[in-house]
Amino acid sequence: MTTATVSPNAADVIFDQRNAAAAQPLAAVTGAEIQAPLIHGGQVRYANLDYGASAPALSVVSAYLNEILPYYASVHRGAGYASQISTSVYENARAIVRDFVGGRPDDSVIFTRNTTDSLNLLAGCLPATDGRPAGDVLYLDIEHHANLLPWQGVPHRSIVAADTIAGTIAAVRAELEQGGVSLVAVTGASNVTGEILPIRALASLAHEHGARIVVDAAQLAPHRRVDITADDVDYLAFSGHKLYAPFGAGVLVGRTDWLDAGTPHLAGGGAVKEARLDGVSWASGPARHEGGSPNVLGAATLARATQVLAGLDQDRWHAHEAAIRSFLVDGLQDIDGVTVHQIFKDTDQDTDTIGVVNFSVEGYDAGLVAAYLSAEHGVGLRDGRFCAHPLLKRLGLPSGSLRASFGVGSRLEDAQRLLTGIRVLRSKGLGWDYVVDSGRWVPANDNRTYPHWAPNTPGTAGAAPCIDD
Ligand SMILES: Cc1ncc(COP(=O)(O)O)c(C=O)c1O
Repeated sequence: MTTATVSPNAADVIFDQRNAAAAQPLAAVTGAEIQAPLIHGGQVRYANLDYGASAPALSVVSAYLNEILPYYASVHRGAGYASQISTSVYENARAIVRDFVGGRPDDSVIFTRNTTDSLNLLAGCLPATDGRPAGDVLYLDIEHHANLLPWQGVPHRSIVAADTIAGTIAAVRAELEQGGVSLVAVTGASNVTGEILPIRALASLAHEHGARIVVDAAQLAPHRRVDITADDVDYLAFSGHKLYAPFGAGVLVGRTDWLDAGTPHLAGGGAVKEARLDGVSWASGPARHEGGSPNVLGAATLARATQVLAGLDQDRWHAHEAAIRSFLVDGLQDIDGVTVHQIFKDTDQDTDTIGVVNFSVEGYDAGLVAAYLSAEHGVGLRDGRFCAHPLLKRLGLPSGSLRASFGVGSRLEDAQRLLTGIRVLRSKGLGWDYVVDSGRWVPANDNRTYPHWAPNTPGTAGAAPCIDD
């Protein structure tokens, strides 16, 4: 196979002082150099602009995984050497994660499957008085479904975010003043637009009105240091797979009282003090909610990834990401027919955004653009409604848009490749025929092959669960 020269026009990349910070990745990630086959033949380095869905593993984390894998065994109940080591790694991961988020010494750190699982767990622990819920959960309409659907099973209220951050805070205040809210559930950063929410202000507003706050940090934690003590946040949830750790473990950190009084999340082995044929005494602490054999390597790698992120120089980290973001946003806004979307008019684009950019291309279905960028330019990004249907509808994007997302393993050239692809699309159109197969746009007559160990199932590649549902 020959190697095509699809690399960007070097003259297009202007390495001025502002974006020089992003010429190279900030940290090494596994898979940074994988090659993507192109539909016209040849291959290019895969430009991964889909970090917001799942980020590649940090190389340090992959090396750590190889180191601990031989000692991998069941935790808690084994007296053997490997089991003891695995138990110590697993239990120590809690302290590492607590440190990473600035947790209080008595906060619980519960390992879960992912952010969705963490928020569902908390929904089962809301306080009740005489068997009746002590208040409503309040959430905004901009949330990912993970921070929206778990609350629909308990008393809840939702409000439409205003078109400014200031207006949104005012709307939350007005709702809290009505009384009867026990928990404010808010995202740390939008998975759709990358805009950061004012967590500290919302936490103090919640507390002024006798409510607690849970922050969905699935997107925020991989991009910004979070300090729940300084911000006075009661609960925080995030996922390892978005934070440069493989295996999909998640975590819920926060105040122990609700968690210890709440319904055990998974009834089963490990979650009990004593089980009888007709009853049970539940354990307290993290064990109460971690029934069954836990995801030891998921928790261990998540914890290791937090240590790497904690060691990054904050200014360099921010400069790297901000340089890619502004390069991408400026470049997209310069292309005729491209619209960059945001929720709030008053978001400070330099300081209050993470590595997520949302846009659409006039005249093209988002799924078609994504298929084209992948097949003709080796760019991976996300299209659809991003599991945030109410927000997409309100933004006037009921059939979806495109999302480029990036992080510590990204480099300016990834963004440049995307810009080149969109410019070519606008000036020359598609360079191949595309068809809809199983609800997804795919190149017609695609003869490219996967590596020998991956099954080739035409039409299913790239299927995203939040597109059609
Ligand atoms: C803001 C936000 N919250 C929650 C989730 C759900 O995360 P997970 O799929 O790891 O449960 C996502 C995933 O995209 C997200 O972006």
